[in-house]
Amino acid sequence: MRTQVGIVGAGPAGLMLSHLLHLSGVESVVIENKSRKYVEERVRAGVLEQGTVDLMIETGVGTRLKQLGLVHHGVELRFDGRGHRIDFADLTGGKGITIYAQHEVVRDLTDARLADGGQVIFEVDDVSIHDFDGTRLRITYRKDGAPHQIECDFIAGCDGFHGICRPTIPAGVLTAFERVYPFAWLGILAEVAPSSDELIYASHERGFALHSMRSQQLTRLYIQCAPDEQIEAWPDARIWDEMHRRFATHDEWKLHEGPVVQKGITEMRSFVVEPMQYGNLFLAGDAAHIVPPTGAKGLNLAIADVRVLARALAEFYRRGSRDALNRYSDVCLRRVWKVQRFSWWMTSMLHRFEDDNAFDRRRQLAELDYVTNSRAGSQSLAENYVGLPMEL
Ligand code: APR
Ligand code: PHB
Repeated sequence: MRTQVGIVGAGPAGLMLSHLLHLSGVESVVIENKSRKYVEERVRAGVLEQGTVDLMIETGVGTRLKQLGLVHHGVELRFDGRGHRIDFADLTGGKGITIYAQHEVVRDLTDARLADGGQVIFEVDDVSIHDFDGTRLRITYRKDGAPHQIECDFIAGCDGFHGICRPTIPAGVLTAFERVYPFAWLGILAEVAPSSDELIYASHERGFALHSMRSQQLTRLYIQCAPDEQIEAWPDARIWDEMHRRFATHDEWKLHEGPVVQKGITEMRSFVVEPMQYGNLFLAGDAAHIVPPTGAKGLNLAIADVRVLARALAEFYRRGSRDALNRYSDVCLRRVWKVQRFSWWMTSMLHRFEDDNAFDRRRQLAELDYVTNSRAGSQSLAENYVGLPMEL
């Protein structure tokens, strides 16, 4: 098989890239090692920045998002038993975020690609990429046991943090920057109406907790736990007990309980490789960087990368110019590092660290007090949370 751009990974990055390329008249093939059902049901993040929402709507994949997405114009920071609202609309000139699960984004993009005659090949094995520093680029894989090959001009490594593209780049080319946090998140999905209209980020002596949602009937909740925690050690009753303590307020507010339909533990990491390209191979999304989920940025950052990449590839096919392709990594990394800073900052402000002492806790509370009571402090959080302007 021959195509212009071979894309490894059918997550948000790979699918959105393929969709944007199609709109610019560039051909691509996406290959994915999991099944369509698996990727469309995998529970992941759920917060879309304004720019991500606008892009989906403008490019014709926003119909279900407009119907089902929950638009929020603020979040609550809760500490010392009190809630403090950060009013995004007021602080950012009317912007907001939309709650819409990542797997729904994946579903909408997959449907659009297939409806437009695009090729998304699921359940492939033994994927490897070849000659990407030369001109005879190939992706090889197996499907139902039979070997296949895609010849292409460019390869986009959109295969997530555990993918094969980044590790295939020769040693010494990439520099990795990393921070691993001494805690994880234990997350649940509960069949119960959200206990608040907006997200609640709670900083408590016992650790961080987050109240989020997926719909009017589904609540998504997380608590900070030890990094090596075993899920078996957390029967539902223990999880609810811990949630109640961490969200407790001085007023009548109550956390609603409901049947737990999904639970899991997410590790917390900040990670970046530089550069995000090598020869004709371009890394995008989690393949190139990971943020801790506290700022809700992973999916949005992946989408920002592929916007830059799609434009650069379109320019190459339209005008034969490699200028934008050569700048891909530099353009993306400016945003990547600002988002890394914000995600690290939110994480540091809200979690308990194992070596925290009384000074650190007082300092965290002072920071929360500042952020929630100073317009400059709140505005900095708000403009990052709704999404920094896109620089292409
Ligand atoms: N061959 C083919 N596909 C692969 C391979 C491989 N060797 N390795 C991984 N994949 C697939 C994964 O199964 C997954 O579907 O690549 C896809 C990568 O998708 P994501 O992990 O979702 O990464 P990305 O598209 O960059 O999305 C950004 O933001 O909210 C965060 O981590 C969250 O997934 C989210 C990410
Ligand atoms: C989620 O709804 O899953 C979610 C929301 C906000 C975050 C992280 C995850 O910061």
